[in-house]
Amino acid sequence: MRRRAAEYRRPVRRRYSLWIWVLLGMFLIAGLVLFVFHHNQHEDRVEQLITERKSRADLVNHEGLNFTKEILSPSSFSRQLSEQMTLAKAYVIIAKEHNNLHLAWELSKRIRSCQLLLSKAAMRGEPITAEEAEPVISSLSYLIFKAQDSHYDIATTIMTMKSHIQALEERANAATVQSTVFGQLVAEALPKSLHCLKLKLTTDWLSKLPLQVLAKENVNSPRVVDNNLYHFCIFSDNVLATSVVVNSTISNADHSKQLVFHIVTNGVNFEAMQAWFLTNDFRGAAVEVQNVEEFSWLNVSYAPVVKQLLDKESRVFYFGGYYEDISVEPKLRNSKYLSLLNHLRFYIPEIYPQLEKIVFLDDDVVVQKDLTQLFSLDLHGNVNGAVETCLESFHRYYKYLNFSNPIISSKFDPQACGWAFGMNVFDLIAWRTANVTARYHFWQEQNADRMLWKLGTLPPALLAFYGLTEPLDRRWHVLGLGYDMNIDDRLIESAAVVHFNGNMKPWLRLGIGRYKPLWKRYINESHPYYGDCVTS
Ligand SMILES: *[C@@H]1O[C@H](CO)[C@@H](O)[C@H](O)[C@H]1NC(C)=O
Ligand SMILES: *[C@@H]1O[C@H](CO)[C@@H](O)[C@H](O)[C@H]1NC(C)=O
Ligand SMILES: *[C@@H]1O[C@H](CO)[C@@H](O)[C@H](O)[C@H]1NC(C)=O
Ligand SMILES: *[C@@H]1O[C@H](CO)[C@@H](O)[C@H](O)[C@H]1NC(C)=O
Ligand SMILES: *[C@@H]1O[C@H](CO)[C@@H](O)[C@H](O)[C@H]1NC(C)=O
Ligand SMILES: *[C@@H]1O[C@H](CO)[C@@H](O)[C@H](O)[C@H]1NC(C)=O
Repeated sequence: MRRRAAEYRRPVRRRYSLWIWVLLGMFLIAGLVLFVFHHNQHEDRVEQLITERKSRADLVNHEGLNFTKEILSPSSFSRQLSEQMTLAKAYVIIAKEHNNLHLAWELSKRIRSCQLLLSKAAMRGEPITAEEAEPVISSLSYLIFKAQDSHYDIATTIMTMKSHIQALEERANAATVQSTVFGQLVAEALPKSLHCLKLKLTTDWLSKLPLQVLAKENVNSPRVVDNNLYHFCIFSDNVLATSVVVNSTISNADHSKQLVFHIVTNGVNFEAMQAWFLTNDFRGAAVEVQNVEEFSWLNVSYAPVVKQLLDKESRVFYFGGYYEDISVEPKLRNSKYLSLLNHLRFYIPEIYPQLEKIVFLDDDVVVQKDLTQLFSLDLHGNVNGAVETCLESFHRYYKYLNFSNPIISSKFDPQACGWAFGMNVFDLIAWRTANVTARYHFWQEQNADRMLWKLGTLPPALLAFYGLTEPLDRRWHVLGLGYDMNIDDRLIESAAVVHFNGNMKPWLRLGIGRYKPLWKRYINESHPYYGDCVTS
């Protein structure tokens, strides 16, 4: 019985120990599971880390080369290629303009292979090797050389690129001062042909006494002050350009004998200008030529611009200091009188005290219609009839003037519409009443430190003629032929006056080919001097 009891108890003990074992086992398993799980997780993470690192390494490997850096590096082939490509692109434009389509096509082909090479290198992330670059660079170099050699010198290229940049700037924003100054330097540099023409005409003038007698008679002609006639004024140092303006005006006029042209030029061109207009046929129109250097009233004590042009610091600013060091024909480049001719437009009532109405024409325009209707337009009491320019190109006042300056912002509307110089009809009576010249003097003096605007005659004019300008139909004056390659033909055809504003003047080699005939057709190409000077 005892044993039984003992035996009987044993299973109880055994049951206890069994439970313990079971529990222990469970703990063990749980521990194992936990361990394995944890371990696995850890391993996962390690693996993940490894893959991450690997993929990052892949990425680094893929980008092995920073292509931006590569293109900027002065010694890399990528840089050489992209620079050549830029140059080649400019030549494509020039070649197209000169109708050299074959060269343009060849250049474009090489540009494409150049682009292909660059994009391949970027994709595989390795620099371009000498073997790859060599054939592309040498064939592009050959073509660029050919382009330079056959037609286009480097100055033309630079100017064309600049004009393109400038055209973009003009569309998007105001051009920078630097490019304006640079552009003026090139645009004003007299081409050899014009210089030659000037010399021949000056010789004529000096050797032919009858011419000088004739000139005297012209100045005293009653037609010059007759308010029943149609008066035009042109201020220029360019004989050929002025001739085109006058000739195109009379060629399209119904009654050319009723037209009077008032030309003011500078001293060096005075004789040539007179000789030209006396010896050529302008269909009975009266032409008066004056010399700005003889306007004694336009002096330091009266005109702020004269004072500013004499000021040393301003000269450095306007002409970059080196201007006067250019060795060619220093007198030709007499900057003072060039700028003075530009500012003469503000003194029209003083130059022509007896006149009541006048049309002002820039020397880079071509007239294509009869302009006499301009004189009967109702200006509604305004002084200046002009074409507005803010419609297509957003030329508003804030583009031209410093509106951070309270003197400007308190008096003018920054959103006021800009207008164009170049073909303006001026009511000289209203001008005198409104004292526009005095207003101009005020603003020109305010701007002695060039804080209100930088350069040019348009900004002070926008101020002086503020509220005194009558908008004209835009077909009276179509602008942009000196920089915009894409003017609509129908717009040009409908224009009474087309304006080659911009640096690509029609008398320069870099003039836009498509528009040049509009200007050229008003030149007498059978004139012996034209043959001697321009075509040779
Ligand atoms: C490549 O280099 C350029 C110029 O050094 C730097 O601005 C640019 O951040 C770099 N790009 C990368 C992805 O490193
Ligand atoms: C300067 O111009 C004013 C008016 O414009 C004139 O009265 C004065 O005589 C001129 N001075 C000289 C030296 O010519
Ligand atoms: C123009 O100036 C004169 C004198 O210089 C002055 O008498 C006249 O009031 C001024 N006219 C206007 C509209 O400012
Ligand atoms: C515009 O005018 C303000 C105030 O006179 C001046 O501080 C600033 O320099 C001017 N800006 C330019 C570009 O001249
Ligand atoms: C004026 O233009 C006509 C063409 O309309 C041309 O035949 C003539 O020769 C030109 N005259 C001068 C002086 O250039
Ligand atoms: C062009 O010039 C020549 C030489 O001066 C002249 O004989 C001819 O009449 C002119 N032609 C025209 C259309 O003006």
